[in-house]
Amino acid sequence: MSFTGTGKVWMNGKIVDWADASIHIASHVIHYGSAVFEGLRCYQTQQGSAFFRLDAHMRRLYDSARIYRMDYGLDRDAFTRAVVETVQANGLEACYIRPVLYRGYHTLGINPLPCPVEGTIIVWQWDAYLGTNALEQGVDVCVSSWTRSAPNTFPAMAKSVANYANSSLIKMEAVLGGYTEGIALDSNGRLSEGSGQNLFLVRDDVIYTPPIASSVLPGITRDSVLALAQDLGLQVREQELPREMIYVADEAFFAGTAVEITPIRSVDRITIGSGKRGPVTAAVQQAFFDYVTGATPDRHGWLTPVEIPGMRREKAPEVVLRKA
Ligand SMILES: Cc1ncc(COP(=O)(O)O)c(C=O)c1O
Repeated sequence: MSFTGTGKVWMNGKIVDWADASIHIASHVIHYGSAVFEGLRCYQTQQGSAFFRLDAHMRRLYDSARIYRMDYGLDRDAFTRAVVETVQANGLEACYIRPVLYRGYHTLGINPLPCPVEGTIIVWQWDAYLGTNALEQGVDVCVSSWTRSAPNTFPAMAKSVANYANSSLIKMEAVLGGYTEGIALDSNGRLSEGSGQNLFLVRDDVIYTPPIASSVLPGITRDSVLALAQDLGLQVREQELPREMIYVADEAFFAGTAVEITPIRSVDRITIGSGKRGPVTAAVQQAFFDYVTGATPDRHGWLTPVEIPGMRREKAPEVVLRKA
C-alpha cells in the first residue's frame, strides 16, 4: 500500500494538508522512539460509517501514555472528538486511523520529560494488510528467531513505537525467508504473537490464545474474538502455549485491526490442519465481519456511528465473507 499523498492530517489541534504534516528532525521521538499510538478502523456498515471499538482504542492509547509518563494537553474525550473530526475532514466512508502521541522538539538527551507531548491523527484507506487472498486462503508463517521483549524490559501492554523495532525484526526475517508473517515466542519460549497481530489456535473445537502475560499487546480484536467466540458457544482458553502446540493445532489464525481475522495455513512449512481455513476460523471470521459491517445487531455496543459529509448510503455494503 502506498499513500496517495492527499487528504488531511490533524496536528495538535489543527487540520492541515497531508503535505504539510511535518515535524522537526530534532524532535525527541525521532531519536529515542518516544511515541505511543493506536490503529483503529472506521467501517462502512449497512447503517453508514462507524468506528469499531473507538472507546477501547482511545482508552488503550491513554493507558500507553500513562505507562510512558506522557501527559497530553487534551483529555481522552477531546482527543476522541478530534479522531471523529479528522475522519469527517477526509470524507472517507471506511478508513484506518492512526492517532499518535509523541515527544516533540525541545532538547535532545535521553530524558524525554522536558520535551512536549504532541498529538497527531492520520487516516488512510488500508485494505487487506496481508494480501487480498489472505482472508480466505490463509498465510504461511514462521516462528521467528527473535523473541518478544522479556518482562520488565519494554512494557508489552503499551502500544509504543519502540516495541515495533522488535516487530520490524520479526517481520523482515519472515519476509526475507519467504513467509508472510512471523510469530514470536516470549522470553520463556511460549507462543506470544505476530509482529502486529494476536495469535489464536483451535484444537478439538476449543480456541486457545496466549495470555496477556506472554508479552502480547492486549489486542482489541483479540478481546472481540474472545467475546464473539463465546457468543457462538465456543470454548475459549487464555493460557500459556508451548511452541509445538501450533504445529498440532487443527486451525490457527491471526487477529488484529490491520489483519482483521486471517487464517494461518502453515507454520515453518508444517501444514496446519487441512491447510485450509477451518470451520471455527470461518465462524469467527464471519461473526467478526457481520459485526463490523452492521449485518448483526451491535449487541456489545462496539460501533460508534459517524456522519461523513457528502456520503449517502445508496445500498448496503455486501457482507464480505457470506459465502465462506
Ligand atoms: C504487536 C501487536 N499485537 C497485536 C495487535 C492487535 O491489536 P488490535 O486488535 O488492538 O489491533 C497489534 C495491532 O495493533 C500489534 O501491533
